[in-house]
Amino acid sequence: MPKLGVNIDHIATLRQARREFDPDPVKAIAICEAAGANSIVAHLREDRRHINDKDVKAIRKAVQTRFNLEMAMNPEIIGIALKIKPEQATIVPERREEITTEGGLDVARNLKKAQETVKALHKGGIDVSLFIAPDKKQLDAAVFSGARIVEFHTGKYALAKTKAAWEKELKQLLDMTIYGRSLGLEINAGHGLKYDNTTPVARIPGMNELNIGHSIISYAVFVGLERAVKEMVKVIRNT
Ligand code: PXP
Repeated sequence: MPKLGVNIDHIATLRQARREFDPDPVKAIAICEAAGANSIVAHLREDRRHINDKDVKAIRKAVQTRFNLEMAMNPEIIGIALKIKPEQATIVPERREEITTEGGLDVARNLKKAQETVKALHKGGIDVSLFIAPDKKQLDAAVFSGARIVEFHTGKYALAKTKAAWEKELKQLLDMTIYGRSLGLEINAGHGLKYDNTTPVARIPGMNELNIGHSIISYAVFVGLERAVKEMVKVIRNT
């Protein structure tokens, strides 16, 4: 059964609507962990649109499971990661005008930068995951970068409009999980995973962890965070 990482960015997004104090994403950590989350995910963006520098320090202190810090290959953010020392850093592409992380990192095209980033973070004792499309070229490049973990961007799967397109994307995730594991990589997945589309991804043999944010926090508005996390754990476990 894959593990569950809960992304708490959207709690900070709601706080930033008022730019005051509530809701505090740090308060979500103990609830998520008690409800079955195996890790806590937060993205410190260059534009600090949700999670900020103070949050990552407080998150580091509060997390009892594993802290997975999402970040771009940006020297300032790499410096912060090396000070904060999350258990894991997940490297994502960032564009200021995007609403969310729209696609995977092009590791093949940015190999040198990826190698330097992975090396610096590994040296600081931080595991590194690369957020990539489920694609052979990117998996090969991930190995060359020195990373030992990848996370497949499941956006295309989540947004597939027809059954045929959905099946094609799921097969790609399955095939690339087999291929990535044959290269010795740990495979995670995330983006756009919801209560009604997560089970098939969780069933992929060898899938290590699913990182889910928006659907859990959206459901939590109605049923509370504890129940929202518990129900997602059930969706993953019932596979
Ligand atoms: N994994 C990564 C690397 C992400 O950047 C995000 C947020 O875009 C997620 C998982 C969670 O995606 P969502 O909020 O759609 O569940």
